[in-house]
Amino acid sequence: MPSSTNTMSIKATKRRFLAPFTGQSLNPPPVWLMRQAGRYLPEYRATRSEAGGFLKLCYTPRLATEVTLQPIRRYGFDAAILFSDILVVPDALGQTLGFYEGEGPKLDPIRHVAELARLSPEGTGEKFGKVFETVARLRQDLPDETALIGFCGAPWTVATYMVQGEGSSDQAEARLWAYRDPEGFGTLIDILVETSIEYLDGQVKAGADCLQIFDTWAGSLPDTEFDNWVVEPTKRIVEALKEKHPAVPIIGFPKGAGASSLWYVSETGVNGIGCDTAMPPYMMGEAFDGENVVVQGNLDPLLLVTGGQAMEDRVAQILELMTGKPFIFNLGHGIVPQTPPENVARLVELVRQGT
Ligand code: CP3
Repeated sequence: MPSSTNTMSIKATKRRFLAPFTGQSLNPPPVWLMRQAGRYLPEYRATRSEAGGFLKLCYTPRLATEVTLQPIRRYGFDAAILFSDILVVPDALGQTLGFYEGEGPKLDPIRHVAELARLSPEGTGEKFGKVFETVARLRQDLPDETALIGFCGAPWTVATYMVQGEGSSDQAEARLWAYRDPEGFGTLIDILVETSIEYLDGQVKAGADCLQIFDTWAGSLPDTEFDNWVVEPTKRIVEALKEKHPAVPIIGFPKGAGASSLWYVSETGVNGIGCDTAMPPYMMGEAFDGENVVVQGNLDPLLLVTGGQAMEDRVAQILELMTGKPFIFNLGHGIVPQTPPENVARLVELVRQGT
């Protein structure tokens, strides 16, 4: 562990979620789930309709606080994750963004270096301020023992949406721009690195005690591009945050990175590594030994939809293989809307039985 171990252990005594970051392995391990607040919960759907839209929900501190707390009240997770979205960053930068029912996000695409002039990195204050206010409210309202995770999207993943203008299966437009004009694309990545640092710094100052960087599309890049657009920008963000807040652990989630996850861990300096569903549990248990990194993962969200014996067996297998390691139980990707809430209750019960 880095020189921050002492400060980390002071916090960890109060919040068991943070204990693995001081090298401890807890049995049962801490548990939270990506997208633990969301459409599978009826109370989320009610609050979202009160807000009148997804982005309004993100920018209304009272309501964003409420939906963050909903899964904590139901399930008592060891950590809450700030309710917001990775696309708040392009929105705050001035790129037009809308979320439409059943279609996902739509942005006015930026595909050329000249179009970067549409972004205003100086103008993020108002929208970020709403998010920071949510974080501050959350730290007041959460039980003392519950950790609060702040987050941002990694520059590469956020850029894929900004360039494509929507979600895509191959992130083609961003990859093409990066190949065609690495310098111009690098300017966009630089803007995102700086803005993400400002965004995460504000979340920590407002009360977040852990950060996660979501790189959902890390797996779409071959090795040299992975290095340029996933590893390097993440490393810059981690370094800047470590300088400002050495005691706040940072979890990286480079989804789809597979074997490159090891390189990602050693180069970026993250304190935790989120493993996706495709990572074999025996590898989660062994591959990161000696890396001083907390492993997080990786139940298939669709097994949480299925429930029953299939879910029970897999949870037991993951727990077994991770016993004795600094580990946080999570899914390999976010909860999907068709998840029965009672399966989440059963999952938490299973994890809390430990091994
Ligand atoms: O995890 C949480 O509970 C915290 C909140 C959170 C959301 N999105 C809420 C959300 C977090 C951490 C995210 C991250 C996010 N957002 C990622 C990275 C993680 C991942 O899932 O891969 C990405 C790629 C996005 C971008 C995004 N936001 C997409 C592509 C979509 C549409 C797809 C969908 O599920 O509808 C969203 C919308 C979104 N973000 C919803 C929620 C609860 C659903 C919106 C709704 O209520 O209608």
